[in-house]
Amino acid sequence: MYVVKSPLSDENLKTVSEALQGALVDLVDLSLVSKQIHWNVVGQRFRSVHLQLDEVVTLARTHADTVAERAAALGVSPDGRAATVAVGSGIGVTPEGWVDDTVAVGALADALGAVIARMRERVGATGEADPVSQDLLIAVTADLEKQHWMFQAENG
Ligand SMILES: [Fe+2]
Repeated sequence: MYVVKSPLSDENLKTVSEALQGALVDLVDLSLVSKQIHWNVVGQRFRSVHLQLDEVVTLARTHADTVAERAAALGVSPDGRAATVAVGSGIGVTPEGWVDDTVAVGALADALGAVIARMRERVGATGEADPVSQDLLIAVTADLEKQHWMFQAENG
């Protein structure tokens, strides 16, 4: 069912909808993984890591909303259901139980790195198809890369 008419051609819309849907799934999972580790981190750096993880949660939730609503604006139904996220996320397995702060920081750096690699592919794929969506994905990637820097620096 198409309720909203897209300004894009069918071919460009396919490219862009795949990029936005993929970004949505990665960002929802990043918010979940960051909360999981926020709750489970232990160690001497508990306080700073605990708080920084919530910065990532906020960032991921905000950007998930932005990319989902961009898809809707193009006439594509966004799918942020748990089952969809579980199947499609690019983030690897998150440690179970309490997580030592060094392991926690490393897990976030790895998760961010995985998402960033996929976001950069999406930036490349959407440039010609829809520069407006590409612009959103560039902004998302810039924020993720800033967090990636900080988590790497934490364990440097
Ligand atoms: Fe909290």
